Amino acid sequence: MAEGTGPSEEELILSFLMDGGEEHTSAEALADKLGLSPSAVWKRVESLRRKGFRIDAGPARGYRLVDLPEQLPWEELSALIGTHDVGRVIYSYEEVDSTNDVARQLAVEGAAHGELVIAEQQLKGKGRRGRSWFSPPGKNLYFSIILRPDLPAERAPELTFVSAVAVAETLRELGVKAEIKWPNDILVEGKKLGGLLLELGSQSEGIADFVILGIGLNVNALDEDFPPELQHVATSLLLSTGKSLSRPLVASRLWNKLEEWLDRHGTEGFEPVRQSWSALSSTLGTKVRVKTDTEEWEGNALGIDASGALVVQLPGGESRRVVSADVETLRPSEPPDGTG
Ligand code: BTN
Repeated sequence: MAEGTGPSEEELILSFLMDGGEEHTSAEALADKLGLSPSAVWKRVESLRRKGFRIDAGPARGYRLVDLPEQLPWEELSALIGTHDVGRVIYSYEEVDSTNDVARQLAVEGAAHGELVIAEQQLKGKGRRGRSWFSPPGKNLYFSIILRPDLPAERAPELTFVSAVAVAETLRELGVKAEIKWPNDILVEGKKLGGLLLELGSQSEGIADFVILGIGLNVNALDEDFPPELQHVATSLLLSTGKSLSRPLVASRLWNKLEEWLDRHGTEGFEPVRQSWSALSSTLGTKVRVKTDTEEWEGNALGIDASGALVVQLPGGESRRVVSADVETLRPSEPPDGTG
């Protein structure tokens, strides 16, 4: 988009269709919004199709944006996604060590809430609990968002639950039965599709100056793109659906959903997040093995409490809160006395 001019008619069409998500928008509604005739809208849709945007159209259905061109420059998504903060500024890189580290540096230098760093490839992608995140070039999504929430630092971890819900809901809208394994692994059919890493910036007077939310999502990776040790535990959208989707489409849906949930968390607090997280979770209602650096034990996963800790009931009936650990789901839970 040229500086100083408003969005073009084609950009407006795209952003209205993005707002529509999986729903069709009628030709008349689109024509009204743009102040154009339906045939002028049609001409612009045809021009977008020639540029690689897949738009479903029919006289009775209207229009639906099916996919974006894979090669769409990341910075150009800002003009299309219609968010007020998330992705308003996008920094894209071919290769970084970790997008979380680049985002942290930008945050220290004053980058605003919602600014986002995305890379084609990470050389030292970071996972939870000091692990690495496999980040081959060009197939998957690796991005980090700078958040400056108005939250006491001890409530910042709620944002991982906000984000996990946003990721899982976006995937379900794309037709993938994604589930969340506590605290924030994104799984499909028990295999890992994505993960989230939340890192806190410095604090002043109990308020985190900023939080870096890093998200990795396997989009178009094939089995052979993963190293052998990951092939039986990792999956991608392509592997689980058989369909390849462009990374810009998945990212734009995700950023919109993330903003919706961040806004909701800002106005309504953690409770609606907790409820949606619980409905999307594959952990609750199962027997789990909890592993920390120092111990390992089993129990029934009952729920998450108001701070996001996993509440696990031991065989004797006593409950424990799990704040930081790896949790393996074993099978549906049994009653504590083992009679059922
Ligand atoms: C996990 O499940 O262990 C968390 C994985 C988080 C990976 C993402 S990819 C983008 C961002 N940059 C990183 O170095 N890590 C996160």
